Amino acid sequence: MTNESKSHMEPLVQWHEGLSVGIQEIDEQHKVLVNLLNELHVAIHQHHGRAASIATLERLADYTKIHFTVEESLMRILGYPDYENHKQHHEVLISDLESFQQRVAAGDAITFELLHFLRNWLTHHIQEGDQRYSSFFLQRGAQPKWQKKNWLDRFWSEIAG
Ligand SMILES: [Fe+2]
Ligand SMILES: [Fe+2]
Repeated sequence: MTNESKSHMEPLVQWHEGLSVGIQEIDEQHKVLVNLLNELHVAIHQHHGRAASIATLERLADYTKIHFTVEESLMRILGYPDYENHKQHHEVLISDLESFQQRVAAGDAITFELLHFLRNWLTHHIQEGDQRYSSFFLQRGAQPKWQKKNWLDRFWSEIAG
């Protein structure tokens, strides 16, 4: 592959407004997940090697668990009525991701087919699950935009990195 075609490689997931839940804090966490997934895609596309892909997959799994914990805390604090369902949805997503990791650990290659599975997994989480709680959070006084700039962005990026 030439450098020319590398630089024009389309990201696996392109952030767009349709993925926004209308709360910046949550959107920024979802963008970290999108970036990790795109990083995994690049690692596979450019043959960075198995170890690099496994490490990125692990960061994706770790960050996903942190993100879900944050969402579940907010749901409990704000008294979200559909908390139990949403938590179950998270548990299914985590177990899907873990079985994906186990297959890779057992020797399966990370194929583009598996990457597409992860892309659907992520967009499904946002569009089927999270977009349902955001109006409730906003009604309960959640701030749609960060009141204090920058440090939270750095905080989440550092955890992911
Ligand atoms: Fe989420
Ligand atoms: Fe969620």
